[in-house]
Amino acid sequence: MPMHAHVGDQLMVESPTTGAAKRDGEIVGLRHDDGTPPYDVRWSDTDQVTLVFPGPDAHIHPTGHEPEGRGPKGRRETTGDRTSTATHGSARSLSDAVVMALVEDATAAPSMHNAQPWRFQYFRRRRVFSLRADLRGALPHTDPELRALHIGCGAALMNLRVAVAHEGWEAQTRPLPDPGDPMLLASVTLTGPLGDEADPADLYPAVRTRHTSRFPFAETEIPASVRTSLVDAAHREHVALSFAPGWHLQSIVDLALEAEARNLTDAGAAADLARFTRATDDTRPATEGVPASAFGPRRRLGKAPMRDFAGGKTVPGRPTADFETFPHLALLSTSRDRPVDWLRTGQAVERVLLRATLAGLSASFVTQALEWQDLRWPLRDPTSGMAYVQMMLRLGYGPPGPRTPRRPARDVLDIEP
Ligand SMILES: Cc1cc2nc3c(=O)[nH]c(=O)nc-3n(C[C@H](O)[C@H](O)[C@H](O)COP(=O)(O)O)c2cc1C
Repeated sequence: MPMHAHVGDQLMVESPTTGAAKRDGEIVGLRHDDGTPPYDVRWSDTDQVTLVFPGPDAHIHPTGHEPEGRGPKGRRETTGDRTSTATHGSARSLSDAVVMALVEDATAAPSMHNAQPWRFQYFRRRRVFSLRADLRGALPHTDPELRALHIGCGAALMNLRVAVAHEGWEAQTRPLPDPGDPMLLASVTLTGPLGDEADPADLYPAVRTRHTSRFPFAETEIPASVRTSLVDAAHREHVALSFAPGWHLQSIVDLALEAEARNLTDAGAAADLARFTRATDDTRPATEGVPASAFGPRRRLGKAPMRDFAGGKTVPGRPTADFETFPHLALLSTSRDRPVDWLRTGQAVERVLLRATLAGLSASFVTQALEWQDLRWPLRDPTSGMAYVQMMLRLGYGPPGPRTPRRPARDVLDIEP
């Protein structure tokens, strides 16, 4: 009888003499819709994926769960146009509408200047999403190393993981899966139905309601339990989060002010900003960039470091406001400073923001000082042992931010057989 397998099944290769498993791995991809060999197998001993034509000493150990027709806790049951069961090709494919909606969720993520430097592919047969950097969304002057680009793409990756879990799928995420292709930032393989775990699916309600808020926040403490849950959110993505204590806050604010002053007089930073900001009378179709409606008021008093998206220019009708004297600034840092750390940071940032949104907090980004090599290092808190500060978030209780535009999913997604 021919062998049949599903993604997520185990392939066991027995020792012919003892019958004990000699090697085992997870089937992470099928090449034929009917589940016959060959298979893409991730071996448990090496974590490498190879194409396997199983011999007579191999057999399949089914995982015993089958997503087709299952009513996962997600929205398949509630949204008629997003059924995951067969409408195109393979009986176990996601429909195009579901793939598209999952990518729309991913692209609700924040990105520097809303440049959206990402592209997605979905490989239907193998049930794999891949996330690629789109260098058209790179900011050559503000982000020459592509650190911010990786952080934005990491945030989109987190949203995709949340959306896939919400849709009822267990997924395996691999950052930078091909060392020869550094712009292939991640793959997400749908391996089978999700068990009972709520994480990260429970963050889903915040995916489309999280927006950057550049409004003043109240001078209210953030309760310790909420802070702890944000520390935990970052920790789950291998990133440290700490709130800047009083003495450190002042030096961070000074560094951000210095950076903001440099940005306003730097032709390169101004060029990056001009490419992605839009005046109120701009009639181009808006699918990217920061519209004037999201600039927030001009700061009159207060210490909250705010990027001036107007580049120092007057925007008609833009009000002024007093910001917090003691902003709550959370620093996210990693022990190393490689692209994989930037991707982790992006996922951690988004996880933190989604949790913060669910906890009723608003947030904005404070990255000006991170963009200047000489200002980035002194941002760190020398007493905490943090190494590389990757991101600063301003958190607090205040008005939510407005929605900003996104490129439609069909423009950033290719669905492959
Ligand atoms: C790496 C990175 C850096 C950012 N830097 C800033 C910043 O310095 N100031 C700011 O107000 N927003 C900053 N943002 C937020 C973006 O401008 C925002 O995500 C984008 O305009 C989309 O809006 P949304 O977050 O409301 O969806 C940053 C976002 C990322 C991912």
